Amino acid sequence: MSRVALSALALLALSLSQLVFLGSAQAAGNPEEGRKAFAKCRACHQLEAGKNAVGPSLAGLFGRKAGTSAGFKYSDAMVKSGITWNDETIAKYMADPKGFIPGNKMVFPGIKRETEIADLIAYLKDATK
Ligand code: HEC
Repeated sequence: MSRVALSALALLALSLSQLVFLGSAQAAGNPEEGRKAFAKCRACHQLEAGKNAVGPSLAGLFGRKAGTSAGFKYSDAMVKSGITWNDETIAKYMADPKGFIPGNKMVFPGIKRETEIADLIAYLKDATK
């Protein structure tokens, strides 16, 4: 095989491995991108425990029952939803707040891009601990 063909093959192998890497990074969500996307939420949500604002504090979100941040006045719809927050329920709520919990009072249109939702979840997992 010529040297040119060999280096072309090496380049191809390199770009393929990068593609695989990008693919898996995307499936898991990129916390740094999520941190930037959280700007959309920060207007109403704090990550510190006990700091409720327009929206409830998101501290300890994963594994918490919906509507239970102490001292925040939730809608009945949120309190009665019976939802526990995990990757799946948070993703559904972020994508379509009104559709997922009809009657809840979070004034947010929802996020359309699935990668952005995955990024936000990757960020929140750590930031809400
Ligand atoms: C305009 C203000 C506003 C924005 C922007 C906003 N939220 Fe909210 N959020 C609220 C309010 C108000 C509630 C309480 C809803 C209720 O009681 O019905 C809430 C509730 C929540 C809850 C449920 C918390 C709990 O204690 O059960 C989660 C999770 C949440 N928001 C995530 C987000 C994320 C993630 C974003 C950004 C993508 C975001 N919110 C953007 C106002 C906002």
